[in-house]
Amino acid sequence: NKNYEMIETSVKGQVGLIELNRPKVLNALNRQMVSEVLSAMEAYDENADIKVIILAGKGRAFAAGADIDEMMDADAVSMETLNQFTDWDRLAWIKKPVIGAVHGFALGGAFELALCCDMLFAAENAEFGFPEVNLGVMPGAGGTQRLTKLVGKTKAMEWILSGKRISAKDALHHGIINSTFAEEVLMEETLKFADTIANQAPIAVRLIKESILKAVDYPLYEGMQYERKNFYMLFATEDQKEGMRAFKEKRKPDFKGK
Ligand code: CAA
Repeated sequence: NKNYEMIETSVKGQVGLIELNRPKVLNALNRQMVSEVLSAMEAYDENADIKVIILAGKGRAFAAGADIDEMMDADAVSMETLNQFTDWDRLAWIKKPVIGAVHGFALGGAFELALCCDMLFAAENAEFGFPEVNLGVMPGAGGTQRLTKLVGKTKAMEWILSGKRISAKDALHHGIINSTFAEEVLMEETLKFADTIANQAPIAVRLIKESILKAVDYPLYEGMQYERKNFYMLFATEDQKEGMRAFKEKRKPDFKGK
């Protein structure tokens, strides 16, 4: 029930939707918008009726990057003092699956925001990229790290050093996005997929997300131990009993999130 100015939120069944909403400037991410996105994500994360979060953009783009107007006159001391990108670390603490639905441009900071999502569905017209080098700067909200971990050094160097755009087709080929759809059906298809996850056992979903994210940070052995503990943990849930009993009884499970 917050009065957001830079985003729009709406609930579709068990799915919480967040839409970036400054279409006149292609949803350029200013500090207020990022702060509203973080608040809305955290509110959905705490709301037991919401199972999955979708992040999208209104107008003709997902977003064209950080707000250049807000940054152009900054100096290093004010950037360091403000240290605005540390706020983005809060995205890593969201426990529910976050799906990005990207159409049009997802550039610079907006590509970084997209890379913070757990999965990305994109319109065929989606274009990703890090144009920061053209502005005399570089990605600063995770781009050099997240893209490199995702696609490896070779393509990350090529794309970030040249600033050239990545088509939805190339993004799919390199595993940056999960699927592409015609723009008209992108939201419908993303919601359909989100619904599938929303009907799974919530604690299993939560521990699966947590464990997969550990694979990015942890060495294999530590990651495997983490996974194993989570697997054992799930035998403390009623949903594990329900899921396995339903299988034996040849019926659909009715998961309760307990
Ligand atoms: N910041 C502020 N305003 C922006 C913006 C941005 N990142 N991107 C677009 N806009 C504004 C434009 O200035 C324009 O406003 P006016 O109508 O007042 O002129 C409006 O949005 C529409 O944009 P265009 O007329 O440029 O639209 P286009 O279709 O011709 O071009 C575009 C689209 C190629 C995306 C082009 O707008 C563009 O290159 N934008 C900047 C992209 C960019 O460099 N992003 C990286 C920002 S730095 C960053 O993100 C740092 C980080 O790591 C966090």
